[in-house]
Amino acid sequence: MASDLRFDGRVVIVTGAGGGLGKSHALAFAKRGASVVVNDLGGSHTGEGASTRAADVVVEEIRAAGGKAVANYDSVLDGDKIVETAMKAFGRVDIVINNAGILKDVSFARMTDQQWDLIFKVHVEGAYKVTRAAWPIMRKQKYGRIINTTSAAGLYGNFGQANYSAAKLAVVGFTQTLALEGKKDNIHTNVIAPIAASRMTETIMPPDMLASLKPEMVTPLVEYLCHEGTTENGSIFEVGAGFVGKLRWERTGGHGFPINKELLPEDVREKWSKIIDFTDGRTTHPASTSQSMESVMANFENVQEEKAAVQVLSAD
Ligand code: NAI
Repeated sequence: MASDLRFDGRVVIVTGAGGGLGKSHALAFAKRGASVVVNDLGGSHTGEGASTRAADVVVEEIRAAGGKAVANYDSVLDGDKIVETAMKAFGRVDIVINNAGILKDVSFARMTDQQWDLIFKVHVEGAYKVTRAAWPIMRKQKYGRIINTTSAAGLYGNFGQANYSAAKLAVVGFTQTLALEGKKDNIHTNVIAPIAASRMTETIMPPDMLASLKPEMVTPLVEYLCHEGTTENGSIFEVGAGFVGKLRWERTGGHGFPINKELLPEDVREKWSKIIDFTDGRTTHPASTSQSMESVMANFENVQEEKAAVQVLSAD
């Protein structure tokens, strides 16, 4: 039988680990030997207030089970302080789980600048600040594993969540660039779109559904992705209720219009069914900006002969 995935000697920061998914991640890493920084600001799910209790309870639970953990009560916006807690307590940082989050749901017509900004601050700037502080440490030790947390709302949009959707997709772009920049230093970054029962979802899902959506069914993917033996990098996963699947972009074969002819909206209309056709067997899955550019570059060759001009030239 293959050996267990262990994290002995590894130091893990889990943000927003006072409840829900973060708590599940923190307990699991500690159980498998890691030293854990349990970060949580301890506010409400819409970002009001603060308390040390949320993080303390999880630290107590880890210690009671014989594990190693320290609490940190800073906002993820003070990411350097969270990393400092890890360095002071354990002397290194190997894994960062950017999980902290809040909601400010409201229809776009009623959204205020404040509701927009706060969501971006916590989800995007928060992930940036914590990761930015850990990055030089990971680069120096040539080892790091980072997990960011997006949402189906970010990948597909969701009514009443224009702020949250935009911020959550920003986290995906952030992940993919970190994956490229970290690769040479053995820093791997992946992003998960979880679905789990938590105080964030308990008001919007029926109780029987929530019973099947245990955070503990999300955490094992996070553990696997963060293990030193795992090479997965820059990927997006949907995970929940025991389902785990990877996501990628798909593009139609499209249509290339001649590059030397004026392109009119009527031309686009004429080829529309081809432009949007995913069933014609010519779809591609671009996984980088260079792969994305390939079809555009190929169309540089798409020059339509100017028949009349050729005739005039040969007549001379
Ligand atoms: P939760 O509300 O139980 O946990 C979030 C934690 O983050 C809370 O303990 C909260 O105190 C903490 N937090 C909030 N702002 C913070 C800040 N500025 N600094 C430090 N800690 C802060 O919610 P849940 O469901 O566990 O969410 C975890 C992550 O998963 C979030 O990023 C959320 O957007 C994401 N997510 C959750 C889904 C679900 O089905 N539960 C679906 C899609 C995404």
